[in-house]
Amino acid sequence: MTNPDPNELHDVVDLTAREADAYLGGIADRPVRDPSAEEVAASFGGDLPEHGSGAVATLKELFGALDGAVHSAGPKFFHFVDGGTTPAALGADWLATTLDQNPGAWVSSPLTARLEQVAIDWLKELFGLPAGMSGVLTTGATMANFVALGCARRWCALQAGVDVDADGLAAAPPITVLGGGYVHPSDVKALGMLGVGRDRVRTLARDDVGRVDLEALEAELRALHGAPAIVIGSAGEVNAGDFDPLPPMADLAERYGAWFHVDGAFGLFASVSPRTRHLVEGIERADSVIADGHKWLNVPYENGFAFVRDPALLTGVFGSGAAYLPDVDEPRPNWGYLGPEMSRRARSLPVWATLRAYGREGYRGIVEHDLDLAQALAAAVDAAPDLERLADVQLNIVNFRYRPEGSVDGEELNDLNRRIGEAALEDGRVFFGATTYGGRVAFRPAFVNWRTRSEDALLVAQVVRELGAKLGG
Ligand SMILES: Cc1ncc(COP(=O)(O)O)c(C=O)c1O
Repeated sequence: MTNPDPNELHDVVDLTAREADAYLGGIADRPVRDPSAEEVAASFGGDLPEHGSGAVATLKELFGALDGAVHSAGPKFFHFVDGGTTPAALGADWLATTLDQNPGAWVSSPLTARLEQVAIDWLKELFGLPAGMSGVLTTGATMANFVALGCARRWCALQAGVDVDADGLAAAPPITVLGGGYVHPSDVKALGMLGVGRDRVRTLARDDVGRVDLEALEAELRALHGAPAIVIGSAGEVNAGDFDPLPPMADLAERYGAWFHVDGAFGLFASVSPRTRHLVEGIERADSVIADGHKWLNVPYENGFAFVRDPALLTGVFGSGAAYLPDVDEPRPNWGYLGPEMSRRARSLPVWATLRAYGREGYRGIVEHDLDLAQALAAAVDAAPDLERLADVQLNIVNFRYRPEGSVDGEELNDLNRRIGEAALEDGRVFFGATTYGGRVAFRPAFVNWRTRSEDALLVAQVVRELGAKLGG
């Protein structure tokens, strides 16, 4: 049987639900990476089949290959900043696929288009952002940065009397982009995609980990004499979870007439707990703010949010009508005119559902649980004679390295830590990445998963010590 057949649907749904239940039910107790992962991945390939094998057999083939996946949905994945999926988000995301709606135009899906509006409003409330900001769901933080910086580009050109979206970059003055050393590469990538230019970004750091040099920032802004500028603030940098000082950066942007953008891909969630809210003070003054859903909101990929103070900028950049499409200025939101994709997935469903299911209190609980895990791991690092913590733990990332007693700082120690990092990924019991922090190779486990238990977090220290003793001895 090689054609899709409605009679397959029942068996497909049944099989998928049973297999997913079994997979997720056992995920906490399996290693993050199975030793056969590469082999399983390599077993796929070959020519396009002439005759298909049917839906059920095909899905069985996939469910038989789960050892090839890295089990990042589970509680022991601390690499990058990757969250899991709450039960409510999982169910709603499946529903999004089941309904296969396109909220790009309100008329094609009033339910999911409305839920996107509600989701955006609830997120603003959750994060304490101004109610008047407009927003849109994106595929992640990179595209949220693209949306926000696209609005910044439009605004900068409008200051010079140019409609850059109509007339192109050649008609507009160049834009200077300023930030500290924490500016995330996705902001730089977005600026490249927008034609602003990756090399237009100047990072002004006062030390080797990237803390922003406010005096240099002010000097650069002053020297521009009012030429178009964007200031990027980082709320949550990836190596140690540190924050730029947002209030003085907002002051400088305001004083020198620059756009103020804040990348809070995961750090915006600091606003959810009274313990960390001070870290994002000043964010409400930004012209644009972004965050990720597939990080600390624990909704499935691909999910991010962009918030922009002036709603007219979003349609100015992304509005794009035609006779067969809705009017660009229709009062009901046509989400295809507020972000890059015209047709788009109903990614509002998992966002709405997880906020509906767990509320503000549930999210405070998830964030504070992850804050506690980071503190618990930091305490274990501090108590171990062969581990060295390299940064304060302000949020959810613990930055540390293996450093046996008597060892000296330098390339040999860096090399040992690099090898421990590679061996840890092979080991697979727990997953965390290595980085270079102020010239030192270090580990930077990041806690954002709602399922992580303290034994999972503490396993990081145990694995580093075991591998360190083995590789360094
Ligand atoms: C601060 C920051 N900005 C942007 C991104 C890019 O996010 P995404 O991978 O969702 O595009 C990340 C990802 O880790 C991040 O930490």
